[in-house]
Amino acid sequence: MSEPLLHARQKYTLGQSGLAFGPVAYGCWRFAGSDVSAAKEKIEVALSCGMTLIDTADIYGLDSPAGFGGAEELLGQVFKAQPSLRYDMVLASKGGIIPGVPYNSTKAYLMRACEASLKRLRTDTIDLYQIHRPDMLAPFEEVADALATLRAQGKIREAGVSNYSASQFRALQAHLDFPLASHQPEFSALELTPLFDGVLDQCQEAGAFALAWSPLAGGLLINGQTDDPAKAKRLYAVSAVLDEIAAANSVSRAAAALAFTMVHPARVIPIVGTQTPARIKDTAAAARVKMSRADWYRVVEASMGEHLP
Ligand SMILES: NC(=O)c1ccc[n+]([C@@H]2O[C@H](COP(=O)([O-])OP(=O)(O)OC[C@H]3O[C@@H](n4cnc5c(N)ncnc54)[C@H](OP(=O)(O)O)[C@@H]3O)[C@@H](O)[C@H]2O)c1
Repeated sequence: MSEPLLHARQKYTLGQSGLAFGPVAYGCWRFAGSDVSAAKEKIEVALSCGMTLIDTADIYGLDSPAGFGGAEELLGQVFKAQPSLRYDMVLASKGGIIPGVPYNSTKAYLMRACEASLKRLRTDTIDLYQIHRPDMLAPFEEVADALATLRAQGKIREAGVSNYSASQFRALQAHLDFPLASHQPEFSALELTPLFDGVLDQCQEAGAFALAWSPLAGGLLINGQTDDPAKAKRLYAVSAVLDEIAAANSVSRAAAALAFTMVHPARVIPIVGTQTPARIKDTAAAARVKMSRADWYRVVEASMGEHLP
């Protein structure tokens, strides 16, 4: 009998809130800068493709004329234009980065940051509020107090972390009486660190989702532009395997690359970052990709540049 093929689960529910969302998420890092109608189109296309978890952060927009808060502000304008959209999604945001500081996860700061996010987003509650990066100077007990207070006040439904190590997640969880709902590491066919540093293991241990940021390596997996010869070699090898998987499933390389992250048992949800509606639709095909165990390990080996023992 042939081996069953690997494929992603189709539906997830968030923490204790029970909010349902699809297996691919849409991200707003590059969102600020367009007008409201173009922004609304991107959100509508993402939702119509089943990308019902929308990830943003207070800092998104910093690299654009909109500045800090720009992406949340634009999403808030989209909700103003069509209020029902807010209820068609699981809304995720983040706080804790301040340009020039660079991190602050004290209770006083997080309470203010979350309040400001709610205002920009024109909503009463953020479904998943994530600490964007670990603040080494904030005691975990205090970070936990901030998250628990925001949750008790109904300003957030669930809490998660981003760019946390497994030990930082464990230390924060030790001070919470509700489970952290998510980790958000960088993870792609080119960035395999979470497979080996304990983060994806911990997601399975704790029942937290893994939201994978830059799942196409910021576009590198598609456009292949790098001046680093070692990286170019890995990229070429990974792309060749992804293209075979893509051809077997009649999807694009982008969809195959996302599927590589999604079939992992840690319930990985890749956050797609394209600003092109046609590419949003194209990447949604990742949810129907099936791949063999051998193909998945071929991607890993191509990315590592060595055979597994
Ligand atoms: N927690 C964190 O620290 C952190 C850090 C970074 C990102 N994130 C999250 O992760 C999300 C995704 O990050 P990302 O934007 O780097 O993701 P990505 O999906 O890896 O890369 C998106 C980039 O790839 C380009 N691209 C080129 N060809 C493409 C194709 N065929 N299909 C799709 N994209 C293509 C896009 O350009 P076009 O727009 O021109 O299509 C875009 O610039 C962010 O929006 C954010 O929510 C989190």
